Amino acid sequence: MQTHEIRERFTAHFVKAGHVPVPSASLILDDPTLLFVNAGMVPFKPYFLGQQNPPFASGMATSIQKCVRTLDIEEVGVTTRHNTFFQMAGNFSFGQYFKEGAITQAWSLLTNPVEDGGYGLDPDRLWVTVYNDDDEAAEIWRTVVGIPEERIQRMGMEDNFWSMGIPGPCGPCSEIYYDRGPEHGAEGGPAVDDTRYMEIWNLVFMESIRGDGDKKGNFDIVGELPKKNIDTGLGVERLACLLQGVDNVYETDLLRPVIDAAAALTGTRYDAGSPADDVRFRVIADHSRTAMMIILDGVTPSNEGRGYILRRLMRRIIRSAHLLGARGNVLEVFMTTIMDTMTPSFPEIADNRERILRVSAAEERAFLKTLESGTNRFDEAASELKAAGASVVPGEKAFELHDTYGFPIDLTLEMAREAGLEVDMAAFRLEMDQQRARAKADNKAKKHRNVDESLYREWIDNNATEFVGYEDLTHGATVVGLVRDGAKVNEAEAGEDVEVILDVTPMYAEAGGQMGDRGRLVVGDTLVEVSDVQKVGKKLWVHKATVRSGAIDLGTSLTAEVDAAWRHGARQAHTATHLIHGALRQVLGPTAVQAGSLNKPGYLRFDFNYTEALTPAQLDDIATITNQAVDADFTVNTIETSLDRAKAMGALALFGENYGERVRVVEIGGPFSIELCGGTHVEHSSQIGPVAVLGESSVGSGARRIEAYSGMESFRYFSKEAALASGLAAELKAPTAELPDRIAQLTERLRAAEKQVAALRREQLAGATAALVEKAERIGEVTLLAVALPDGTAAADVRSIATDLRGRFGTRPAVVALISQEGDKVPFVVGVTAPAVELGVKAGELVKVIGTHVAGRGGGKPDMAQGSGTDAAGIHAALQAVRGDLQAREGGSR
Ligand code: ALA
Repeated sequence: MQTHEIRERFTAHFVKAGHVPVPSASLILDDPTLLFVNAGMVPFKPYFLGQQNPPFASGMATSIQKCVRTLDIEEVGVTTRHNTFFQMAGNFSFGQYFKEGAITQAWSLLTNPVEDGGYGLDPDRLWVTVYNDDDEAAEIWRTVVGIPEERIQRMGMEDNFWSMGIPGPCGPCSEIYYDRGPEHGAEGGPAVDDTRYMEIWNLVFMESIRGDGDKKGNFDIVGELPKKNIDTGLGVERLACLLQGVDNVYETDLLRPVIDAAAALTGTRYDAGSPADDVRFRVIADHSRTAMMIILDGVTPSNEGRGYILRRLMRRIIRSAHLLGARGNVLEVFMTTIMDTMTPSFPEIADNRERILRVSAAEERAFLKTLESGTNRFDEAASELKAAGASVVPGEKAFELHDTYGFPIDLTLEMAREAGLEVDMAAFRLEMDQQRARAKADNKAKKHRNVDESLYREWIDNNATEFVGYEDLTHGATVVGLVRDGAKVNEAEAGEDVEVILDVTPMYAEAGGQMGDRGRLVVGDTLVEVSDVQKVGKKLWVHKATVRSGAIDLGTSLTAEVDAAWRHGARQAHTATHLIHGALRQVLGPTAVQAGSLNKPGYLRFDFNYTEALTPAQLDDIATITNQAVDADFTVNTIETSLDRAKAMGALALFGENYGERVRVVEIGGPFSIELCGGTHVEHSSQIGPVAVLGESSVGSGARRIEAYSGMESFRYFSKEAALASGLAAELKAPTAELPDRIAQLTERLRAAEKQVAALRREQLAGATAALVEKAERIGEVTLLAVALPDGTAAADVRSIATDLRGRFGTRPAVVALISQEGDKVPFVVGVTAPAVELGVKAGELVKVIGTHVAGRGGGKPDMAQGSGTDAAGIHAALQAVRGDLQAREGGSR
C-alpha cells in the first residue's frame, strides 16, 4: 500500500467517525520552545490547555502533521526506523471520547480488512503497552478489544507517559506494536526488543499538566487539564514500511527513489554487502527529504537554530554522497527526486521547486568551497606536524577544523589516515563536550525566559489586553498588573522601572517587524514613560516603562498616550516596507520570498530569500518603483477577513507565522501590495515621503537584506549626501557632475606616483645594502654582519635586506643580524648561510638572544628567523650579544 493511500485511509476512517480534517500546520510555529513541530498535537496545544475553544463544533479533529525531529540524527540509517522528517497521523478528541473511543477506533483501522478501508494487519501480531498503573486501559484492551493478557505489557514514566518534554499538557499513553517476526530479533514483546516489535501508534490520554523537568519522565504533575482529551500519533512511514514489506523506513515508496538516484549518481550499489555504504544511502534519502521540507516552509541555511539544522542536513548529504564516490554537485538530483515523490501528498511543493533548488544549490556551492579550504588547512597542518616529526593531529586542531571551517570529523579522520597521521580523538571529544556544555547552558538560559512567562499566565488567561491603537492614539485605561525585576508587585514609584499591564491600550506592541510604540501613561501629577511595548503570547501587551513622577498601583485609572511623532514615523516605515516588498517582487519575481523585516521611525530593513546579490540596476529599479508608488498616492486599505478569503485575495503571508482564523489584510494600490499584516500604516502612500534605498547585503547563505530610510530621515540622508558632494566639488574645484571623472584621474595619478616611489625605494635599498657589506667582520671562521638599519626601515624591508645580504655572502659561513626601529616597534631578522648552519649556528637561537635585549620575541628556521621587540634602547646591546654569542661559540669549538 502506497504512502498516499495510507494517508487517505486514515483521514477517511476518522472523518467517517465525525472528526474534522485539519491540514498540516507549517513545520515552523510561533512557539519559542520548539525549533520544529515535532508531534501532531502541537498546533492544538491551546485547545488541550483550554486557552482556546477548538473552532470545530464536534470537538474532534484528525490531521496528518509534518514533523521534524533531529535529536537522533546519528541514528538515521543505522536503525531501521529513525526518520528526521515523518508524517504523524493523529485523531484528537477535545473533551469528547476518551480511552475506550481511542483504543477501539485505532484497533479497527489497523485490523479492518483492506477491502473495508482498513490496513488489514494481522491482529495476532499486534502487541500493546500501557502505563504502569493504567488498569483501565489494560482492561479495555483485554475485554473490549480481546487482546490476550500476555501481549499487554506495562511500562513506566519514561516510555508510557507522554509530554512535549516541556511544561504543558501530558498524560499516560498506550502504544501499539507490530511483531515483524523472529528474523528481526528476540521473542518477548516490545519490552524486550523494540526493533523486532516496531511501534506504530501512540495513544495519549491527555489529562494532566506537567511542570519543569526533562523528557524522560522526571517531572511533576502540577495540575489537571479542564477536560479529558485524546491525542494520538500513528507513524505513517513505519506503517508504510510494514505494509510495503520492506526492511526499513528508508526503502518505502517515497524514499527509495532517492536511494536509487544516489546509486546511479555515485556508481556504488545499495545493499551490496557494505553496511557503512548502506547507512550513507539511507542518510541521503532521509536528509534530502527533511531538507526539502524545511526549505519549503521557509528555512534558509545559517549558523544557528533551524538554519543550522538545515545546513547540517545538507552537509551530511553531500558528504555521504562523496564518500559513496560522487564528485561535484549532488543536491539537485536528490532534491528533484524527493520533490517528485512528495508532491502528490504536498501539492504546494510544485510552486516552490525553483526556490528549493536555488537555496540548496547555493548551500552546496558554499560547502564545496568549505571542503576545499578545509582540505587546504588540513594539508598545511599535516605538513607542519610532519616537519616537526609529530604523528598525531591534536584534538584542538581537529576541533578547529570542525568548528571554524565546518569540516566534518570523519573527513579529518580519513585524511589523517591517508597522511599516515592519527587524530587525538580524546582531546577532540573533550572540546566537543565543552562546546555541548556551552550550548546546554545557552538552552537553559532560553528555557528560563520561557519559565518566566508563566508569571504572566494569570493575565493571559483572564485579561488579555484590548488593543485600540488602530483607531486611537489616546485612551483611558486601568492598571491591572505590575512586574518589577521579574516579580509581581502592587505599586511602582518615581524612579522605578516597571512593566505595566493595562486592560486596554492604544500602544502598538512589537510584531510583524514593527517596533513597539513609545508613549506615556498619565494621571494627575503621575507620569510614566513607556519606552517599549512587547507581547507575551499573542494577546497580552506588556509596557516597559519608567515612573518619572508620582506613583501607580493596581487599579489606577490613567490615560495612555502614544507618542504621535513616533507612531507617525513607524507607520511611514512600515508602509514603505510593504512598497519595497511589492517592488522587489516586480523586479525579482515571486520567488524572492520575505524572510523577515524590521521597521521603526525613519528606518527599515527587509530580508528575503534570494541566493544572488542584486545588481545595481535591480536595486535602482526597486528604489524607483517604490518611490513611484509613493508618488501615485495609493490608498492603503485594511480589511478584516478569514484566512481562506485572504489567501484567495492573493495576500502574502510570512512563512512560519501562525495566523489565527480572522486575519487583517493590508492592501496598497490594489495588486501592487496585498499582505497579511497587523501593523500600523499610513492612509495614503504619499504620506510616507521619499524612500531612500541604502543598499543590499548578504545575511547568511540564501538570504539578502535591503535597508532604507523613510520620511524626513530620507530627506536628511539625501541632503547630507548632497552636502558631501558639494564639499568635494569645492575641494577639487570641479562641478559635482565631473567628480567621478576627476576622482578617477586623481587615483590614476596617485597609483603611478606610488609605483615610482616603490621603484626608487628598491634602488635606494639595493645601494644601502651594497654599502652594508663593508661593515662585515670576521669572528673565527664566520663572517658576521650585525648592524642597526636606519630608523623607519619597515619589518618587511629588514627581512628583504637580510635575505639579499645573506645571498651576497654566498658560500662562505656568514651571519647577518639586522635590527631596525619603526615607530614603537623594533623589528629584527637573522639570516645564516648554509655553511654556517652546518657549523651549528642557528638563526632561531640568535633572534632569541636579540629578543632578550629589545623586549621582544622571535623564532624561525635555522637559516632565517625574525622577531619584533619594543625597546629600542637595547639595540646596541643586542648586536653586541650576537657578536658575543658567536665569539663564545668560536672559543668553545677551538
Ligand atoms: N503526541 C503523541 C506522540 O507524539 C501522540 O507520540
